[in-house]
Amino acid sequence: MSIKKIAKEQPETFEFFEENKLLAKNEIKKYPKGKQASAVISLLYLVQKQNDNWIPLAALKYVAKLLDIPYTQVYEVSTFYSMFNLSPVGKYFVQVCTTTPCMIRGAYKIVDVCKEKICENQKELSKDNIASWTEVECLGACVNAPMMQINDDYFEDLDKEKTEEIIEMILNDKQPKPGSYRNRKSAEPENKRTTLLNIKNA
Ligand code: FES
Repeated sequence: MSIKKIAKEQPETFEFFEENKLLAKNEIKKYPKGKQASAVISLLYLVQKQNDNWIPLAALKYVAKLLDIPYTQVYEVSTFYSMFNLSPVGKYFVQVCTTTPCMIRGAYKIVDVCKEKICENQKELSKDNIASWTEVECLGACVNAPMMQINDDYFEDLDKEKTEEIIEMILNDKQPKPGSYRNRKSAEPENKRTTLLNIKNA
């Protein structure tokens, strides 16, 4: 579990690019009059996409104004959900699941690799700002534990060596292959098992 970190250095202002203004308008239109607050998550997601994957405080105020709701309401949402970053993250943002199924399958070996290769502390940028990492709660891929997410992709069935290879690639600005690192297709059983019948140790 990690605490939400808010950037010390903040831009004075924030405004959507023209195309995002249109997208925001469309999101708000999806909800009945007076219920525009429901668009808050979509708008925060748009902010993050526009702003290198993190949300400055000025953007929270901007979204509050767009939705005509109190700033604290937007602040609460942004600090509650782990997918919103309130401080800069690396070009490659590594999220390591350390919830129980991943933990008992070796998640802390992945954390150790991140500490050694990216940065000792989570939520801080690597020396060249190319990567950062954080611990997160279950990412819904428990059957392929242990796993981590890098930007929009999942990397699953990991061990220390595979994680090292993946992290080395991103530190060299190369895109690693997402998916299972034990050659499973999605979450299929290993050894081409298709049934539990007549198989010992199934
Ligand atoms: S516990 Fe790690 S993905 Fe669910």
